[in-house]
Amino acid sequence: MGKNVLSEAEIKKYYEDMKKDSIGPLWYDLGHMVTKEPVHDVEPYLWKWEALRNYALQAGDILEPGKDAERRVVYLQNPSLMERGLVGYGTHTLYVGIQLLLPGEMAPSHHHSQTAVRFIIEGDGAYTAVNGERSYMSRGDMILTPAWTWHEHKHEGTEPMFWMDGLDVGLVRTLAASYFEPYEGDFYPEEPPENYSTKKLSGGAFAPIGEKQEPGYPSPIFNYTWERASYELDKLSESPDNENPFDAYAIEYINPTTGGPADARIGTMMQKLVPDQHTKAHRHVHSAIYHVLEGEGYTVIDGQKFEWSKGDFFILPPWSWHEHVNEGAEDAYLFSINDKPVMEKLDLEFGETYSDNDGQQKIEKVFEPVDETVKTK
Ligand SMILES: [Fe+2]
Ligand SMILES: [Fe+2]
Repeated sequence: MGKNVLSEAEIKKYYEDMKKDSIGPLWYDLGHMVTKEPVHDVEPYLWKWEALRNYALQAGDILEPGKDAERRVVYLQNPSLMERGLVGYGTHTLYVGIQLLLPGEMAPSHHHSQTAVRFIIEGDGAYTAVNGERSYMSRGDMILTPAWTWHEHKHEGTEPMFWMDGLDVGLVRTLAASYFEPYEGDFYPEEPPENYSTKKLSGGAFAPIGEKQEPGYPSPIFNYTWERASYELDKLSESPDNENPFDAYAIEYINPTTGGPADARIGTMMQKLVPDQHTKAHRHVHSAIYHVLEGEGYTVIDGQKFEWSKGDFFILPPWSWHEHVNEGAEDAYLFSINDKPVMEKLDLEFGETYSDNDGQQKIEKVFEPVDETVKTK
């Protein structure tokens, strides 16, 4: 190419000088910067619950939250992102950890600019306090601790308690916006009465005369109970007309004052798949991390089969074809967190449906999870 004004040696020198001066030629690099569709290095992956649970439980013998560590958590590390040194990345935006709290323990109050959601996996009798308001947590509940709210956990029950923490670690790091601060005292003062926000907004919505609930964030509810979520899903799945072709019977957790997502930056969804239900494949810009609350089945991601059962976690990378199948005799429930609220706010959310093969992918390989059972007790 070229206009043949300069000699080859002069052109070579031009490029070398430019590189040395930290300047680049867009005519070579445009295709790397402005790609025709999303390019990423997030691989799909799956972790078995038994391995995660055992690693978390063994940490119970090693350290105590509030004494030896801020929190006792083992996190999902996507191997493809570890190659780039991105520690704590499940996807390029999302993090998931498994937190263990033993009876009598507490995790001290702190706050951070990362937003967080919890999903309770096992146990009850522990509470999360958000800005001083306690909410006791049970299996299947989803708890918001929105960005920069003070939060602590305390376990008053008798059995180990496990939950999932979901944070936008990668997003906040990319935006260089991480702040963290421990609370200076031992406990944030207990302010509203226990479960005040849930009581105030269930079975009606009330406020003292003259006090208005302004629309916006954070959501005025922070404990989204499994009792309510499962009721909604049962009602939805009574009619096949309510079936979503890609997500089966699915609900999103919302902020009642805005109608938008419960959390401003992390989307939360629960899907119910009845036995033999097999969704169609689609793909979208937003990425997700899935947790299997109940059931047995598989998800096909870009032609690879990820077999899951109760408690497992798996990664759905951005812009990856995916479909879900319930292979068990019982209903399957998939909880997931995603970065859709961010993509939508930035006008970056696009999707596509899979049209070949009647909308379902051919399985080209089967993912083999690491067998950690041999290593752990
Ligand atoms: Fe936190
Ligand atoms: Fe999807």
